[in-house]
Amino acid sequence: MIPEEKVREVAERLSIVEVVSEYLPLRRAGSNFLGLCPFHAEKTPSFNVNPAREIFHCFGCGAGGNAFSFVMKIEGLSFPEAVKLLARKSGVEIEERQLTPAERKSQDEHVQFLRINDLTTAYYRSVLLHSAEGEPARAYLGNRSVEPEISEAYRLGFAPDRRDGLVKHLRNNGADLECAVKLGIVRKSDSGWYDLFRNRLIFPIRDARGQVIAFAGRVLDASLPKYINSPESPLYHKSSVLFGLDMALPSVRTGNAIIIVEGYFDHLALYRAGVQNVVATCGTALTATHTGLIKRHAERVYTLFDSDNAGKKATIRSMELFLEQRIPAYVVALPSGDDPDSFLTQHSAEDFAALRDKARPAFEYFVHSLLAETPPDSVDSKVRIIDDIVPRFRKIADLVERDLYEKEICRLLGITVHAFRKRMGGGMLSDRDAASTSGKTSHTFDNVQDTLLALLMYYPEARSKIEQTGPETVFSGDHLEIARLLLSSGDDTVLSRLAEIIEKPEQKTLFSRIMVSDGYLADIEWLTVFDQCRRSHEKKQVSSIKDIASRLAVLDAGSEEYELLLKQADSLRTRKSKL
Ligand code: GTP
Ligand code: MN
Repeated sequence: MIPEEKVREVAERLSIVEVVSEYLPLRRAGSNFLGLCPFHAEKTPSFNVNPAREIFHCFGCGAGGNAFSFVMKIEGLSFPEAVKLLARKSGVEIEERQLTPAERKSQDEHVQFLRINDLTTAYYRSVLLHSAEGEPARAYLGNRSVEPEISEAYRLGFAPDRRDGLVKHLRNNGADLECAVKLGIVRKSDSGWYDLFRNRLIFPIRDARGQVIAFAGRVLDASLPKYINSPESPLYHKSSVLFGLDMALPSVRTGNAIIIVEGYFDHLALYRAGVQNVVATCGTALTATHTGLIKRHAERVYTLFDSDNAGKKATIRSMELFLEQRIPAYVVALPSGDDPDSFLTQHSAEDFAALRDKARPAFEYFVHSLLAETPPDSVDSKVRIIDDIVPRFRKIADLVERDLYEKEICRLLGITVHAFRKRMGGGMLSDRDAASTSGKTSHTFDNVQDTLLALLMYYPEARSKIEQTGPETVFSGDHLEIARLLLSSGDDTVLSRLAEIIEKPEQKTLFSRIMVSDGYLADIEWLTVFDQCRRSHEKKQVSSIKDIASRLAVLDAGSEEYELLLKQADSLRTRKSKL
C-alpha cells in the first residue's frame, strides 16, 4: 500500500497535460487539450484533456479518468504501479521495489538530467562570481542594482563568450553530453560540441521544488534576441512552468494570492522589494496549464503586465482563462510607460502596495479599458463594444458576478438588460446554444441530469441545495450514484481523484465526460436546471406509484410481494411530499 498522502503529493505535482503529452501530441482547443485517442482507432480527435479539472475523457470510446487512470490504462499498470511511475517522474520518493530495466534506465536518465542542470548552474554561477570573463556581467548587475543576496537567491550566472566552456565543464565532471543535448544546453555539430548560451546573463528556471529544469539567457546590451531560453526538453515544458514559483510558494501559502508578471527582471524587481508571491511566465503567453497550476496554489491572482499595448492584450487574454477557470483575477494597472521593474526603481514598496490595493477585478478593468478606447456615443459604437464584451462575458462562470456585470455593462452603455441579452443571442442561452459558442470541441450534455451533476460539482449553491433536498429527488441511476459519491466526499476533495473510486465502467465514463466538458456551464441558470430535474423526477415517481398501484391490484393482499410493494409506494409518497 502506498500511503494516501504520498498519492496526494504525486497528484499535486502532476499536470495531466504533461503526463498525457508524453504519449501523444495534444493541442489546445478552448479550455481543453485535444488529441487522437490512444485507446481506440480514430482519425479525428475526440480525446479531451481538461487541465484545470485534471481529467481526461474520450468522446469516442468513453475512456476517462485522472492522470493515474491514464497511466494505468496506457501502460497496463495497477493503481500502485501507476502511482509509483508518476512518483518517479515528479520526484516524490516512495519505498521502492526493484525497478524493471526500462524503469531504471528512465530514472537514471532523469537523475543525469538534474545533475547536468546543477553542474551547469554552478558553472555559470562561478563564471559570474569569480572569473575575469564575468566582469561585464558583474558590472551589468551592478548597474541594475542586483545585490549579491538577490543574485544568490536566483542563482544567477553568466555564460562566457566561448564556444564550449560549458561543454568542457560538463565533460570534466563526467556528465553524459548526449543528455546535455537532450536538455538543449549543448549542441553537436560536425566540428564538435558547443554551448547554447554565449555571452549571456543566465537565469536558471526552477520547478516548484526548486530543481533547475531549464535556463534563460539575457544579452548584456541592446542586441537581439534579448532572451534565449533552453528549448522544451524532458524536464522543461514551458507552457506549464511558472518562473519563480518555488520562491513564491511560502508567501503564496500565507496570503493565498499570486501576482503574475511577464519578465524575469520584473520578478526580480518585486522580489527585491519584498513582494515574494510572484511568478513569471517564461516568455510565453499564459496557458490553461499555468492557470491550473495557479489554481492549485492560490485563491486569487493579480496580473501585473507592462502598461503598453502588448501588456493590455496579455491582460485580457489571461482574464479569459481566469474567468473560465473561476479564479478571481485582478489587474494591477501601472502608470503608462512603466513595467514593474521601472516602477519599482522609481517608487517604494509602499507605492507598489498602494497600486495593488487599487487593483480592479479583471473583467471590470476590461470593460473600462474598452470604453476608454471606444466611447459608447453612438449606436454603432455600442454595438461594437457589446460584441467585444459578449464572448468574454459568456466566460464568467460565477452567476452572481454575471448578474452584477450585466447590470454594470448596461448602465455604462445606457442600454437595457433586455437589449444586452438580445445581442447575446436571445435571452438566457440554453446549454446547447452555449456549447456551439465555445468551440467545436465542446460537447453538450445530452440530458438535464448531466447538467445538474456538473452544477453539483462546481456550484456550491447547487451543491447545498441538492444536499438539502437529497440527491434522490433529482437524480436516478448512475447519476444518482455519482451524486451520492460527490456529496459524501468533502468540499476539499480533488474531484479528479474520485475517478479512482468509481468502479462501474459506465459510471466512470459518465463522470469523466461531465468533468471534461465544463466549458458551457457558464450560461446556465442552475436553479432552472434543478427544477427541471425535480419535475421530471416527480413525474417518474408518480408513474411508478401508478405502476405499483396497478400491480398491487392483482396481488393477494398480505402476500410477501404485496407488503414489499406497499412499503415502496409508501416511501415514494413520503419522499414526494417532502418535495
Ligand atoms: P528587462 O527588459 O531587462 O527588464 O527584462 P524583462 O525580463 O523585463 O524583459 P521584457 O519585458 O523585454 O520581456 C518580458 C519577458 O518576455 C522576458 O522576461 C522573457 O521571458 C520574454 N522575452 C523578451 N524578449 C524575448 C526574446 O527575445 N526571446 C524570448 N524567447 N523571450 C523573450
Ligand atoms: Mn520588462
